[in-house]
Parts: sequence; structure tokens; C-alpha cells
Amino acid sequence: MKNITKNLETLLKTAFQNAGFGLEKITISPCTMIDMGDFQCNDALSGAKKFGTAPRIIAQKVVESLPQNDIIQSAEVAGAGFINITLRDDFLAKALIFAAQNLNAPINYDTRKTIVDYGGPNVAKPLHVGHLRSGTIGESIKHICAAVGNSTLGDVHFGDWGMPLGMVISELERLHPDWVYFDPNFAGEYPTNPPFTVKEIEDLYPTASKNAKADEKLMEIAHRATFELQEGRRGYRALWEHIMTVSKNEVRRLYGILNIDFELWLGESDAHNLCRPMVEKIVEDGHAKISQGATVVDVAEDGDKIDIPPCMLLKSDGAITYATTDLATLMQREKDFGAQRVIYIVDKRQDLHFTQVFRTARKTGIVSPNLQLDFAGFGTMNGKDGKPYKTRDGGVMQLAVLIEEVRQMATQKVQETNQTGAYTAEEMAFIAEKVAVSALKFADLSIFRTKDYIFDVEKFCSFEGKTGPYLLYTITRAKSILRKAGYDAQNPYFNPAHCGREIMLALLACKNEIIRAYDELAPSVLCDYVYKVANLFNSFYNTCNIINETDEDKKKTWLFLTHLTLQTMEKIMQLLGIETLEKM
Ligand code: ARG
Repeated sequence: MKNITKNLETLLKTAFQNAGFGLEKITISPCTMIDMGDFQCNDALSGAKKFGTAPRIIAQKVVESLPQNDIIQSAEVAGAGFINITLRDDFLAKALIFAAQNLNAPINYDTRKTIVDYGGPNVAKPLHVGHLRSGTIGESIKHICAAVGNSTLGDVHFGDWGMPLGMVISELERLHPDWVYFDPNFAGEYPTNPPFTVKEIEDLYPTASKNAKADEKLMEIAHRATFELQEGRRGYRALWEHIMTVSKNEVRRLYGILNIDFELWLGESDAHNLCRPMVEKIVEDGHAKISQGATVVDVAEDGDKIDIPPCMLLKSDGAITYATTDLATLMQREKDFGAQRVIYIVDKRQDLHFTQVFRTARKTGIVSPNLQLDFAGFGTMNGKDGKPYKTRDGGVMQLAVLIEEVRQMATQKVQETNQTGAYTAEEMAFIAEKVAVSALKFADLSIFRTKDYIFDVEKFCSFEGKTGPYLLYTITRAKSILRKAGYDAQNPYFNPAHCGREIMLALLACKNEIIRAYDELAPSVLCDYVYKVANLFNSFYNTCNIINETDEDKKKTWLFLTHLTLQTMEKIMQLLGIETLEKM
């Protein structure tokens, strides 16, 4: 069975044709006034000018010219020339049962190979709130891409190769000059266990950075250490491996709590060997120039509304840049993984960087012109003062601290609703964690990604309104009904006469909504959708006493509707990367 909108578009297109008003494209959308019909078509209005005929007359003729079909119950002309369409009940029943049986059938909308670049934590620095957004949105976009047929890979793209590492390593050398890693004559095996914890490294970095900024000599040493690390000095590399190990573990742990995971755990360092040859080639091909000692590529274009400065490939001291690594990584993604599209989920303040990188890639031809590049930027999470969310003393808000804050609020909320003591302490902790993660992730995803939003832990954790906990709660409610009724999904039965049209149509829109979320790279589309389904289900639940209904026809229909609602909501939550609960 084809998508309903597509089906209707084909039927209407033929009708327009038959009526003598052939149009290139016909668009069907849900009816804006639900009492008037299920779907509507406004193309008689857009065709009026082309054919010099009044829209109502076109619409009337089109309605009369509809081909024979088993989908449309009635098509009526309304207002200025809208065509309102009502579906046949038996078709609705068939479509809903089909939807339930095929919810997870592959959608082959776009089958390209896509790499999603998200997370982007920086080694030796703690994850902060910005990494929450990148991780949350990126994980969801990756799932959405996969759902429409992409073969996807998520890459964490560690910031693991720049000055911060030089600073940390030189600071370690200053503090522990006797460590074997700093003995230039040492030729043996280095210890396998890291000589520090991640906490020690994270604490060391701010001091190292402050010291280097305050003292030119220390800065010079840090520069030197960065350079020697990149050139492969053994002891530094060994130390770097240790820093990588402890940092990766911490990233895995924190992102793990948030149900965020990557297929590729690569970083800037992995593209290092490609950087210099790539720059040489770009220079050789005549795309670069030397400007104040630096090697740059001009990327400004006619019609630019803002000044787009040249993309710097080598600094005047010969060091490679953030842009160089991103360009080399692109080549690697195409060559090693056959990427046909790369989507970057990064703070929107890096917009200019990606404009420069994308244009350089195009201009220099280092990757195929068919490789599609997208920057999906996101806004900031702010505090109530409208400024980026900070700790009480004004410091950068670490992700671990933020998660803890939400966990505490979620625990409180769960306890409030569980006065009867139905759960053990262990169960409570488990439920509270899932509720907290759903609260945080849903809040983050439900705002269109480029927008900023305000962190409001109380609101996020509320069991009412457009929140993660509300959705989790609705899901457990549906599960509990099906459990109590011993529902058997193998024998679906559905009689549209016993249900409101709105919920049926909403459930049928699932696939379209997933495709729309993909087209717009916007998980928020799915948040709106799942919230709408939950609301419709809850009002249905409040008016129908499903379990105690004695009319079998009604009861079977309602149980099926509950089942499909549950499946649909679970599917969307999976695409959002939010785990659900059996009970709460
Ligand atoms: N590590 C970077 C940062 O914290 C983000 C990396 C984004 N991805 C990329 N390919 N540049 O700013």
C-alpha cells in the first residue's frame, strides 16, 4: 500500500487532467478544519490564473472527474475553491491495519551512505552543555537518516590534536620531569596503565591553559610540545594515548547515560597524515595563495551578504588548522567509508568555519562534487537570564553536573507520584534515571535546533505538558491497558465507527512525518508529532473505558488503536533516541 497522500495526489492529478486543467504538481495536505474533511487540495486556486477560470469552477469539474477508486468517500468544493476529501471507512481500516503491520518496514526514500558528525568532544576537557545538544540532536538525526533508508555512520570526531594537548603535555612535563615519557633516551616499552585519572587531566587543563596564556615562555613550550606530538615524538605519543584512553572512557560513560553512541570513534588526529599531502596538492593545483606568510584559499563569492574571509590551510608558522583537519577528514570519509553525504551537527556559531570548509572542498575538488555537505547548526541552552547556562559561580556548566541536576528533580517527581511505595529503591532509581534522560533529551530536541532555549529543570521534568516524562507516562499507560487485556497483536480488528477521525489520521501520518523530519534535519518535527499523538490518545483514553467495555466490536477496535498508538510512539521515541519504560 502506497502512502495515502501520494495516492491522493495521483488520483487528483488524474482528475485535474481529465477535467482539462492538467497541472505539473498536485499537493494534498491534512484538512485545516477537521469537520470539513480528512485532506484538502488547494490547487484549483493556484491553477485559476493559468487557466483563466474561476477556482470554484475548476474545483467542481475536478471533483466530477475523479477516477474510479476505493479510497475517497467524498470530495467537496468549499469556500473559494478548496477541495475537501473524506476517506472511505473501509479504506481507513485497511490502512491502519497495514500501518500496524508495516511500521518498521524500510522506507527507501534516500539510500545514500551518510556520515553524521556529532558530539565533537575535546580530549582533556570536560563535556559541557554544548556537547549535550550536539550529542542529542546528532543521535536523533542519525536514527532519522537510517529510518528513511540511508546507511549511516555516526562519528564522534574528537578534538584530539590541537594546542590543548600540547598544553597538558608540557604542563605534565613541568610537574613530573622524572616521568619516563619525558626521557628522550628511553627506548623501552611505556607503562600500559595511564599515570592519571580523567579527573586529574580535566583539572590540569584550565591551569595549564592559564599558565601558558600568562607566560610567553610556557606558551612557546606548549607550541613546541604540540608540534613534537604531531611529528610523532614517542614519549609524547604514549602519553597522548593515555590521555585518549581516559577521555574516551569518560565520553563513553557520559554519553552512555544519555543513550548516545557512535559507530566511529575517530578524531582530528586520524586525518593528520592526509593533511600535508592534501595542502601540497591544493597549492600545486593553483588554488591557494600565500597571505602574510599563511597558506590560504579565497572562498568569497559574488552575492555574499557577509564578508567570508579566506580559508586558512597553514598558519604562518606552518601549523595546520581546524579547517585543514576538517578538509582532510572529508577526503578520508569519502575514501575509507564511501560517504555520499556528510551532516555536521555543530554549534551554529561555527557556521562561518563550515562555509569556508565546504567552499574550499568544492573549489579545490578534493572530494567528489556529488558528496553532499550539510551544516545542521544548533542554538545554545541558556539560563533564565537569557545567557548561556552556567554554574552558580558563573563557570562553564559541565554535562555531568547538568545530568545530576535533572536526575535529582526527576527523582523527586517520581517519588511524588509513587506515594504508595509500589517500587523498591532500586526500581525507583532506574525509573528516575530514564525519566531524567527523557526530560533532558526531549526538551533539547523539541525546540527547532537553530533556536536557543532556556534550561528549566522543573518544567522539563513535569509529567504534564510537552515533556519527555509525559510521553513516557502515556506509553506506560498504553502498555498497561494492553497487558491487562492480554491483547493479541496477531489478530488486528478495526472499525472506524468507534473512533475519532483525528487520531486515526494522525496515526496514518507517521511515515510522512519521519520523511519531513529528514528533509528538514529536524527532530523537533517528530517531537511535535509524538506529542500530538499522545494528546489524542489521552483524550481517547479518558472518554473510553477500554478494559471494561462490554461491546466486543468496540473493545477490539479500541485495543487495536491503543496498540498502534503505542507502536507509533515507541517508534518515534526510538528515532529521538529516548528509551521508554515498562512502568512508572
Ligand atoms: N571539537 C569541536 C568543538 O568543540 C567540534 C567539532 C565539530 N566537528 C567538526 N568536524 N569540526 O568546537
